[in-house]
Amino acid sequence: MSGNIEDKNFPIGVFDSGVGGLTVLRELNKALPHEHLIYFGDLGRSPYGTKSPATVRRYVRQITRHLLSRKVKLIVIACNTASAAAGDDVKALAAPVPVMEVVGHSARAAIEAVLPQGDEPVRIGVLATATTVASDLYKDRLLELSDHHLSAPPLIMQKACPLFVPLAEEGLWEGPITDLAAEMYLAKMREFDPHAVILGCTHYPLLRKAIEKALPPGTVLGNGAESLALAARDLLSEQGLLAESELPGRLEFIVSDSEDTFRRQAERFLDMPVDIVHHIDLDACEGREE
Ligand code: DGL
Repeated sequence: MSGNIEDKNFPIGVFDSGVGGLTVLRELNKALPHEHLIYFGDLGRSPYGTKSPATVRRYVRQITRHLLSRKVKLIVIACNTASAAAGDDVKALAAPVPVMEVVGHSARAAIEAVLPQGDEPVRIGVLATATTVASDLYKDRLLELSDHHLSAPPLIMQKACPLFVPLAEEGLWEGPITDLAAEMYLAKMREFDPHAVILGCTHYPLLRKAIEKALPPGTVLGNGAESLALAARDLLSEQGLLAESELPGRLEFIVSDSEDTFRRQAERFLDMPVDIVHHIDLDACEGREE
């Protein structure tokens, strides 16, 4: 199936395993307030980060096909694990519809945030899901980028923090349990004393306060959501595909499990009423897998 990008008023498709991608959606909505955004949260099959790449790839292909059936003009992979397991699949399925990923923007933001450290190599930490860490996606991207921006390759420490995703989904963004999980996962990272740490899973910015507390003071912490959103605006503008409307863009949410839990977390994070939530069972699309 190939996409179609003829119409300026077609929506932008954004997806993640659950609520994490809302951290990207919020930036997209800020940068592109007139665009119709369709957000797909695969709650019924989350978390992705502890599943095999083959399984995540199957889910991601289904979601991509679904978004293309909705005639999106751009797909944003708001899930690092999906990029690690199936970024190329999404691009191949979607072409000529452009696909943007948060990974490259997060790596670039970290490289740009760290100041040269004299003769000492820069130290960058990557917090991500087990699948993303195992793929070395961030490590490869950071080493590629450092060729152009740093005098020496950075030292990189990666750490998978699997409990962060269910904590984020449950709404436990702060508090003693979250602090404890951050302490446990980040003890070695603290010793590594990174100059910058990438939140390489879109759920992790929701736990930012706990992560910050567990790291040495002054560690630069970030991800590329904002930079991706600005790049999406540039891309649509260059291609003459910005929505023509002056009205606030519609936010449409599709989930593959309980709508109420999702609505609660989404309203809390986005700080606005979330009233367009459809439930869809993508396994029903299995038969369409090539
Ligand atoms: N938010 C996703 C990511 O950026 C995945 C979380 C998960 O489902 O494990 O990797």
